[in-house]
Amino acid sequence: MAVVIDGKAKAASVTEAVRKSAEALEAEKGVKPGLAVVIVGNDPASHAYVNSKSKMAKQCGFNSVQHTLPEETTQAELLKLVGELNADASIHGILVQLPLPKHFNSDEIIQSILPEKDVDGLSVLNAGKLATGDLATGLISCTPAGAMLLVRGIHGDDLSGLNAVVIGRSNLFGKPMGQLLLNANATVTMAHSRTKDLATVCKTADILVAAVGRAAMVKGDWVKPGATVIDVGINRIAAPEKGEGKSKLVGDVAFDEVSAVAAAITPVPGGVGPMTIAMLMANTVIAAYRAQGLKAPKF
Ligand code: GUN
Repeated sequence: MAVVIDGKAKAASVTEAVRKSAEALEAEKGVKPGLAVVIVGNDPASHAYVNSKSKMAKQCGFNSVQHTLPEETTQAELLKLVGELNADASIHGILVQLPLPKHFNSDEIIQSILPEKDVDGLSVLNAGKLATGDLATGLISCTPAGAMLLVRGIHGDDLSGLNAVVIGRSNLFGKPMGQLLLNANATVTMAHSRTKDLATVCKTADILVAAVGRAAMVKGDWVKPGATVIDVGINRIAAPEKGEGKSKLVGDVAFDEVSAVAAAITPVPGGVGPMTIAMLMANTVIAAYRAQGLKAPKF
C-alpha cells in the first residue's frame, strides 16, 4: 500500500513560512504583500477557487483584493483593469482566473500582466526563464511548483537516473512541470492526448504526473511498482452513494487500484490542490520582496 502524500500538511507549512516572511517585510519596510485576484463570469468552480485564494491571502497577512466582473465584461475593460493593477504600487501579484469566458483573447490579457507581478508564471518572460533553467529570478506557475515540492519530499532535490512522465502539455501545468523535473535531472517524457500507447509510456515512469482532466483515467496496470504518482486532476463526478444528486471530487488517477501498486501517491482532494494556493502565496511574497529591492525568500 502506497504512502499517501499529505499535501494539506505541506501546504500549511509553506503558508506559515509565507506568513512569517510577510510579517518580516512589514516590520522592515512597512509594506504588506498585495495580491489582486480577478474573476470574470459565473463559473461556480472558479468562484470557489478564487474565494479560497483570497481567504488564504488574508490569513497570510496580505493586502488581498478581489475584482469580480460580470460575464459581459469586454476585452478592453479587462485590459484597462490589468493596466491599473500593473500601475498600483500596493499590488505585487496579479492573478486573472482562467478559463476566461469564450469571447476573451486570454493570451493578450495574460501577457498584459507585468512579468514581475505575474504570480501565475504565465508571461513569456517567466515561462522563458524556466525553460532556460533560470529558476531564481522569475516566477514559476503555482501548481507545478507545488507538485515539485511534493516530489522533492519523496525523492530529494536530485532526480538523476529517474524517469518522469507528465501526462498533459498545458502552459499552466504540463510544460512547466516538465521543465522543473528536467531541471532536477529527471529524464522527462511529455505525454498527451495524441501519445501512442499511453499506458506503456506511463509504465516506464518512476515519477508519474497526471494532469488531463479525466476522472480515474490512470489505472493500476499503467503504473510501475514502486512509482511516485502525482495526481493533478480535479474532476467532479456524480456520487449517488452519498445520496440523490450528490457529487464528489476525484483525480485523474484511479486511486484505489494505483495505491496498491505505487510507493507514494497524492490524494484528491488534499494532495496537489492545497499546494497551488500555498505557492500562489509564496509567489506573491517573493514578488513583494523583489519590489522592495530585497532578496526574496525561498520555499
Ligand atoms: N484556473 C485553474 N487553475 C488556475 C491557476 O493556477 N491560475 C489561474 N490564473 N487560473 C486557474
